[in-house]
Amino acid sequence: MEERKGFKSTFGFLMAAVGSAVGLGNIWGFPNKMGSNGGFAFLLVYIILAVLCGYIVMVGELAIGRKTGKSAIATYQTLSRKFKWLGWLATLSPFLILSFYCALGGYCIKYMVLNVGNLFGAEFGTNGLSGGAVFEAFMLNQTEGVVFGIIFLLLTMLIVMGGVAGGIEKFCSVGMPALAVMLVVIIIRSCTLPGAVEGLKFMFMPNFEPLKENFLGVLATAGGQMFFSLSLGMGVMITYGSYLDKKKDIAKNALVIICFDTLVALMAGLAVLPAAFALDPEGKIGGPSLLFVTLQNVFDNMGTIGAVFGIIFYLLVILAAVSSSISLLEVIVTHFCDKAAAKGKGDKRKAYSVIAALAASVLMVLVCLDGLGYSGYWVPGRVLVDGAWQYTAMYNDCWLDFFDMLSEGIMMPLGALLMCLMIGYEIGPDVVRDEIERNEGHKMKSYGFFKICVRFITPLLMAMVLIGQIKDFFL
Ligand code: PHE
Repeated sequence: MEERKGFKSTFGFLMAAVGSAVGLGNIWGFPNKMGSNGGFAFLLVYIILAVLCGYIVMVGELAIGRKTGKSAIATYQTLSRKFKWLGWLATLSPFLILSFYCALGGYCIKYMVLNVGNLFGAEFGTNGLSGGAVFEAFMLNQTEGVVFGIIFLLLTMLIVMGGVAGGIEKFCSVGMPALAVMLVVIIIRSCTLPGAVEGLKFMFMPNFEPLKENFLGVLATAGGQMFFSLSLGMGVMITYGSYLDKKKDIAKNALVIICFDTLVALMAGLAVLPAAFALDPEGKIGGPSLLFVTLQNVFDNMGTIGAVFGIIFYLLVILAAVSSSISLLEVIVTHFCDKAAAKGKGDKRKAYSVIAALAASVLMVLVCLDGLGYSGYWVPGRVLVDGAWQYTAMYNDCWLDFFDMLSEGIMMPLGALLMCLMIGYEIGPDVVRDEIERNEGHKMKSYGFFKICVRFITPLLMAMVLIGQIKDFFL
């Protein structure tokens, strides 16, 4: 059997894992959800959940992945009898997420091109049209939507083809620091605009009303956001863990990943909301329209230099999105590469990267054609009764929302919950401790905390998140 090549350095691993965590979820999900769910109060709930659930699940996933040195599917098959099948759930989620992630990544490429057009006064710029008009025209142009989605998916595929060290680690080691620099540039511009304070107030003003009114709702929103943002409850961290050197300290790395991810989410808020409030107070602050309508209006309002900021900004979002989508594709590719290697078929990474990308493109094309619902493709939850559409409670605005709810809202918290039950009650938390302490000098100081959480606190909180999300989804 060929040797499985993993990450070369701790820095490279960290950049790849942070790259997976930092993505579209941080840039528009977090600031917006924080603003509309109690600001600072939401942040507190988020941080508590990140400590009591995020840290525990991250450590657990990295540890079981490294212990087996196998893909998510093989990891669960090796470790568990009761949860043998859980790896399949962990591999199905990336498919769903890739579908809308690549579609949105494609939109970012389109918007970077638009700003290049604006900079040179070219025809492929916005041509003086408002952000809303440009966006609507783009959403209705199904061919363009699909073409840009495919470009993004191809980019993802090419990096994954390069392998864990040669593709993913290399890309993230350069891309992540570049992203940080660009983010700082945008923050400085955004926060120095007149009127920027309103955005900061929206985001940080403590407001305990939402907590009092709908605690379960806030908990579910923060929980879903946390799983999505930290890339947990699915195969990503298990897969990355399986490529991690046995000498590295898992507990410490998990903490660093969580801190960075939260920091970038807050920084993204500082980059996006003050500008949105200062230059487009009427603009919508939620969802894709924040990123593509409101912010494009902001850049248009700045004159020529706005095009430069636009290019930097969308490039930054593309970097964040690609470093996440490669981790999603890697979950699938790792599984098939391992299988091929075990059968002595040699290194089939390139072939499997192409096949996995092709498979992911099916759902992606559906999301692209739907154009965030602008093209009105059929969505589950909408039924024709006597010639008129009736909307059931399960109805979502578009395919993107539907896949998002399914993955972020249900499959990820469920996957994480079951993993905790497996570690807590079937294989025992000491398996995780032994893996972390297999190298002398890496004492798992947080073991007592880990043990209590993984058995009782984390599953309980995740069950609450799940109930809150399901209530939201169906009722
Ligand atoms: N964490 C990424 C984000 O915040 C999304 C993601 C989810 C990536 C799950 C990989 C796995 O955008």
